Amino acid sequence: MQDLDENTVTDAVLAQMATTPDARMREIMAAAVRHLHAFAREVNLTPAEWITGIKFLTEVGKACTPIRQEFILLSDVLGLSACVNALHDKTALEHGTQSSLLGPFFRQDAPEYALGQSIVQAPHGAEIVMYGQVTDAAGKPLAGATVDVWQTDEQGAYDLQLGNGETADMRGRFRCDDAGKYHFRTVRPLGYSIPLDGPVGDLVRRQRRHGHRPAHIHFLIGAPGHRELVTALYLADDEHVDSDTVFGVSRSLVVSPRANDPNAPVPGLPAIRYDFSLGRAADNDTGRVGADPAQIVAAAD
Ligand code: BEZ
Ligand code: FE
Repeated sequence: MQDLDENTVTDAVLAQMATTPDARMREIMAAAVRHLHAFAREVNLTPAEWITGIKFLTEVGKACTPIRQEFILLSDVLGLSACVNALHDKTALEHGTQSSLLGPFFRQDAPEYALGQSIVQAPHGAEIVMYGQVTDAAGKPLAGATVDVWQTDEQGAYDLQLGNGETADMRGRFRCDDAGKYHFRTVRPLGYSIPLDGPVGDLVRRQRRHGHRPAHIHFLIGAPGHRELVTALYLADDEHVDSDTVFGVSRSLVVSPRANDPNAPVPGLPAIRYDFSLGRAADNDTGRVGADPAQIVAAAD
């Protein structure tokens, strides 16, 4: 008969779970139990606090729909998504452009556009042009690389927040030319508040955090044989560029539109030039950090 206390219970659980046949699952669950128990001991977790936590996670689960993944949002505001992204970058065979959060507004089925077209259905704000090249880690152009792009409009709203999610706007997919080059027109995005109308928003407010993300443009770039790149470019002059609520900004991803760029493919428009590089894919590359929420719901059904 075991005689368990708040310390010995940890070893008892680990011993029982040691039968898990899948070695990676065994490792992850053992570490999760060790850290969870250590956390409870460190803060001397009371039954009332424990049930508050259970109720909070229940609300997070209830807020998930095919167009909303509240658990990923929770992971984002706790910096876990950024942490997993950084770990993912460290396992790359070759170092390319730094990654950043996929976020909840990515959709699998963006409209395809020809190079140079605008991703905005009816531009109201200041237009800009984005251009650059996609290469491998050695700088060799990746002809035909696909470039998915999505962003907010000049008021800080994604298409999914404006309508019923059926009209794609401010998003599109391009295919690079033979020199790996891309360019497209868009509007200058505005920063925005992450969705704060759910349990994660309640948490952020109780912590007196501002809840904003600096203005950015998302990219998902792919080329056969190369590790998919999920990243975003952040506008330098946004007031929240140093205090992103979800910790997505890295120095190498901060950009400024440039007026009178002599190389801009659309003369007269402020231009952002950014060259992306993709490392080779490893056999066991485990995919992107994040997902289209509809895919997660479909996989759970
Ligand atoms: C976004 O960039 O779209 C985003 C990322 C994380 C949480 C909320 C929004
Ligand atoms: Fe975003």
